[in-house]
Amino acid sequence: MPTLLVLGATSDIGTAIARLFAERKFAIQLASRDTLKLLPLQADLSIRYNIHCSIHHFDAIDFASHKPFYDALSSKPDVTVCVFGYMNENEKVADDQDETLKTIHTNYTGAVSILNIVAKDYASQKKGSIVGISSVAGERGRQSNYIYGSAKAGFTAYLSGLRNKLHEKGVHVVTVLPGFVYTKMTEHLNLPKLLTAQPNDVAKSIYNAVQKKKNIIYVKWFWRWIMCVIRLIPEPIFKKMKL
Ligand SMILES: NC(=O)c1ccc[n+]([C@@H]2O[C@H](COP(=O)([O-])OP(=O)(O)OC[C@H]3O[C@@H](n4cnc5c(N)ncnc54)[C@H](OP(=O)(O)O)[C@@H]3O)[C@@H](O)[C@H]2O)c1
Repeated sequence: MPTLLVLGATSDIGTAIARLFAERKFAIQLASRDTLKLLPLQADLSIRYNIHCSIHHFDAIDFASHKPFYDALSSKPDVTVCVFGYMNENEKVADDQDETLKTIHTNYTGAVSILNIVAKDYASQKKGSIVGISSVAGERGRQSNYIYGSAKAGFTAYLSGLRNKLHEKGVHVVTVLPGFVYTKMTEHLNLPKLLTAQPNDVAKSIYNAVQKKKNIIYVKWFWRWIMCVIRLIPEPIFKKMKL
């Protein structure tokens, strides 16, 4: 039975991913900084899908714990999905150094720290899939969320380099650019219904990308074109826009 590791399993998207892979008969390793929150999901997945589901403590910004965390996994996952993330209002983040560092360390440094360890193991095994949930916010800095966006931009570049490096080792790396998704992270925002996906849509796209070895996925196809247009706006015009 193949195994999936979900880093940030309490997230709405992470839960949907775990559920879908369990339905497709993967054993599931749920990792989160609050393991108690994972108990109901563990019970549900084990009973509903008759699969092995384990719980592991993982904190993205406790960098020193990452190697012992991975080494302690009794079986190494075939697929690792890096889902954790943190987003607060840009103005609050910009005004508070702790918030700035939390945003950068959760979305970038923490992800790089743990995925370097997973990547090394997969390269030595010459197999495995790494899925990183980045964001379209990383495709061009906008005044409304450039600190979160810049951390995701770094993560997108990291995943691109990792894919390039690991391709010859037979290791697959997927970059996920979900666009808007209805989750706890965005519940305070008034998202446009047409442009917004459900966590389950993200999970389906990821499962499909792992099976078909896709490289970069946008969950709703039109986000590729929206971001293409946004990237093409000349800077003298872009800097005057309230985005
Ligand atoms: N929702 C969107 O529109 C959208 C769009 C593009 C990309 N994304 C990305 O999708 C991913 C999932 O987000 P979501 O929308 O599902 O939001 P969410 O439900 O708020 O999930 C965020 C997750 O990150 C975890 N987390 C935060 N800091 C952590 C840390 N230090 N260590 C371990 N876990 C930590 C949280 O764990 P706790 O339960 O312990 O707080 C929570 O599980 C994120 O990377 C986000 O940036 C979301």
